[in-house]
Amino acid sequence: MSVMTGKGDLIAWITRKGFVWGPSPEIYGGSAGFYDYAPLGKLLKNRVEAVIRETFIKQGFWEMECPIVTPKAVWEASGHLSGFSDPLIKDEQGNVYRADDLIEEQLGKDDYELDGKTIKIDGASQEQLLRIIKQEKVTAPGGKKLIPEIKQHNLMMRTTTGLDQEAYNRPETATTTYLPFIRYLHHFRDKLPFGVFQIGKAFRNEISPRQHILRQREFTQAEAQLFLFKEQKNGYEPFDGVKDKKLPLLHHGKDGYEELDLTLKEAVKQEKLKNEAYAWTLALAYDLFRNMGIPENKIRLRQHEPEKMSFYADDAWDVEVELNSYGWFEVCGVHDRTDYDLTQHAKHAKQKLEARNEKTGKKEVPHVLEIAFGTDRPTYALMDLYYQYDEKKEQDTFTIPANMAPIQAAVFPLVNKEDLPSIAKNIQEELQAAGLVAVYDQSGTVGRRYARMDEVGTPYCVTVDFDTKKDGTVTVRNRDSTKQVRVKKDDLLPFLRDLFCAKRTI
Ligand code: GLY
Repeated sequence: MSVMTGKGDLIAWITRKGFVWGPSPEIYGGSAGFYDYAPLGKLLKNRVEAVIRETFIKQGFWEMECPIVTPKAVWEASGHLSGFSDPLIKDEQGNVYRADDLIEEQLGKDDYELDGKTIKIDGASQEQLLRIIKQEKVTAPGGKKLIPEIKQHNLMMRTTTGLDQEAYNRPETATTTYLPFIRYLHHFRDKLPFGVFQIGKAFRNEISPRQHILRQREFTQAEAQLFLFKEQKNGYEPFDGVKDKKLPLLHHGKDGYEELDLTLKEAVKQEKLKNEAYAWTLALAYDLFRNMGIPENKIRLRQHEPEKMSFYADDAWDVEVELNSYGWFEVCGVHDRTDYDLTQHAKHAKQKLEARNEKTGKKEVPHVLEIAFGTDRPTYALMDLYYQYDEKKEQDTFTIPANMAPIQAAVFPLVNKEDLPSIAKNIQEELQAAGLVAVYDQSGTVGRRYARMDEVGTPYCVTVDFDTKKDGTVTVRNRDSTKQVRVKKDDLLPFLRDLFCAKRTI
């Protein structure tokens, strides 16, 4: 177990400063694809999840919590048992690799020209992958020879319940959200559309997990499902509120990708987006990431190539964030799952999963539009985008937006003399009692204490000095401008609250 010290090394900073530790459990050598969220990382992830809850609830979605462990029948019906797999290849020594990852790493790109067509390597068929391996003489790391045979490796993590009942740790929250459909109908008084979401753990037995918390075997998903009749996809009322918005849309057309300089209304009209409800879900997905504090110029929406689309999707766009460490990276998928899931579960569970459409007077199987993402990737993205090593100051900095910062305020006595420490401690306790995450620090010079807080992104430092005793004021220092203002001790809490709501700056 090491505490790394590399300057400007993101993962070293994440580890050293107590954001994420692992692979976990470290004292047993670590298991690939599993991580501990350490105190500051857990606070950050909680803030990400709070934004997700707030954003979905404001848009009328209701939160659910369904079981992680689910019987085999569910995954037979959903198609995951047969279709949710990655291409696996072995080298002559029996080491296993994900074939598409291996090719991408060795060629240093994620697409490939085959038979005069550019194809995505991670959407290629087994036969195409083998052809690329042969043509490019792809080897395993260290030049080891690959056995030219690809098998599909199912990502489902098997478990048992009771004595020996086959069950699975869910590979997505979405499917478990669909299963109480009949209950929803009663609950929402047979009125569609309605929306539900879940934030919870999911499991994928990746062949070779990599990229830190971006690709784990156990991770947290946040997935929202909008149930609606097919004909409600157009004339969808909430679309009115977003129709004039322009999003950074990268559309996959006949000749490859094109950036669309269109409003959502124009994009639907020109059939670049299939319908209004789907366009609305894209706008909501975009807003989620903006609300988390991801800068506008670091987000885009990219349509999947048809061959990369999930087996259940009729249309799919990814939200991608441009990370400093990996370039454009998928952080969310918006899928039109049509009536696929409810039809499958109706068939396998032998239940009618349909609702009466008042407009047509008929019973129909509703469609589902899904915003599927996790909370680990945005947490990583915030650390990746706002962490920097400041060469001039010779220190780490974390300039995360104030409302997302793990620690919101720190309180210091300027010196450890007279009753300055106890006044400062009282202030810190009052801020904590009022619901802010505030820490107290009296060790080292005040400059060192400011630096310690800058390193973990604390936006405001409050210092108690001798003037506090005279006139009851404290200084509040802004992390980014280093500007300080004097504020009355009794006004401190509303003053900080205003700063977090961005009603005021210093
Ligand atoms: N529910 C879709 C996904 O897990 O990607």
